[in-house]
Amino acid sequence: MSFWDHNPSLAKHLAAVDEKLQSAANCKEKLIQEAVTELINAPGKRIRSAVTLLSASFGTFDESTISVAAAIELLHMATLVHDDIIDEVKLRRGVPTTQSRFGKDCAVYTGDWLFVKSFQLLCEAKATEHLEPLARAMQRICEGEVNQYSNRYIPRPSVLAYLRRIRGKTAILFALAAAVGAKQAQCQEKEVRLLARYGLYLGMAFQIQDDILDLVSTEEKMGKPVGNDIKEGVYTLPIIYTLMNSQYSEKLKDLLAQETTQETLEGITDLVIKAKGIEQARKLLQKYLTKAMDMLQQLPPNSNRETLQLLLEVPFQSTDPLQAWQKSPKKRRFSTRTA
Ligand code: IPE
Ligand code: IPE
Ligand code: MG
Ligand code: MG
Repeated sequence: MSFWDHNPSLAKHLAAVDEKLQSAANCKEKLIQEAVTELINAPGKRIRSAVTLLSASFGTFDESTISVAAAIELLHMATLVHDDIIDEVKLRRGVPTTQSRFGKDCAVYTGDWLFVKSFQLLCEAKATEHLEPLARAMQRICEGEVNQYSNRYIPRPSVLAYLRRIRGKTAILFALAAAVGAKQAQCQEKEVRLLARYGLYLGMAFQIQDDILDLVSTEEKMGKPVGNDIKEGVYTLPIIYTLMNSQYSEKLKDLLAQETTQETLEGITDLVIKAKGIEQARKLLQKYLTKAMDMLQQLPPNSNRETLQLLLEVPFQSTDPLQAWQKSPKKRRFSTRTA
C-alpha cells in the first residue's frame, strides 16, 4: 500500500515509470547495473516523477510522458548519489547509500552515469525539447549546492540567501518536473506556467520541511541520518531564525562552534524550539503551500488535481514522512481551501 494508490491511473503510470527505470538500469558494466538497480529498488517516494505524470494529465497524455517522468527521477537520483558522497552518509531511503555499498569512486561514476542516462531517455523518447531546460536545471542545482558549500559554518543569517539556495538546489527540479510533464502533454502555456509555479512552491516547502525534520525527526523515521545539516555546517531556516533572535543568537553560536555530538545537537534543537525557530520556519513553509494551492485552484478540478493538492498536505503533516507515505489517504471531496 502506498500514498499513490488512491489514484489508480497514476499508480499504473508510476509502475510503468518503474519498468522504464529498470530497463534503463541495463548496463554491461555490472557494478553500475547493480548500483543503479539498488537505487531504483530502494523505497524512494517518486514525488518528482509523479508531479510530471500528474502535470501531463492536464493535456494529452501519451506513452512518451513515461520516459520523461523516468528521466526526471534519474536526474533526482543522480543528485542524491552525489549529495551522499559529499555528506558521507551511510543511509538513504532506509538502505545503505551507493558510496557506502560500492565505494566513493563507483558512486561518482554512478551519479554521472545517471545524469547522462536521464538525457538519453529524453533522446530515445524524441522529447529533446526538454534537454535545454534539463541542462539549465542541472546547472542551477549544482550552483545551489556549491553556494551551500561555500557558506558552510558561517553563522551570518540571511533568509533571502537561504531561499535563493533552496530554490536552486531543490525547488527548480520540482518546477522542471511539472513543466516538462505539462509541455510533453501539449498543455496550454498558461497551464504550463501554473504547474511550474506549483512545482516551484511545493519544492520550496519540501526543502524547508526536510530541513526542519533534520532537526526534529529521527533516522528511523526519515530513512536517512538526521542532524546532518549541523554536522556539515549547513545552517538552515530554523537556525537562521534563531541566529536572528538577539535573545538566543550568542548561545546558539556557542553551540554551533562546538564539536557536533549528540548532546550539542540536542542542545541546539532545544534552543531552536525555545526561540520559535521551528515555528517561524513552519509559517514560511505554510506560505509556500498556500501559494502552490493558489496555482492549483486556477486549474480544472479533477482527481489528478486532488492528488497534487494532497502533495501539499501529506508530506507536511508529521515528523514521520515515510510512514505517511505507506498509507493511502482518505478519499474526500476536493476542497477549494487550504487547511
Ligand atoms: C530528498 O528528496 C532530497 C531533498 C530535496 C530533501 P526525497 O525525500 O523526495 O527523496 P526520495 O526520492 O523519496 O528518496
Ligand atoms: C537536498 O538537500 C539535496 C539535493 C538537492 C540533492 P539535503 O542535503 O537536505 O537532502 P538530504 O537531506 O540529504 O536528502
Ligand atoms: Mg544531503
Ligand atoms: Mg536534508
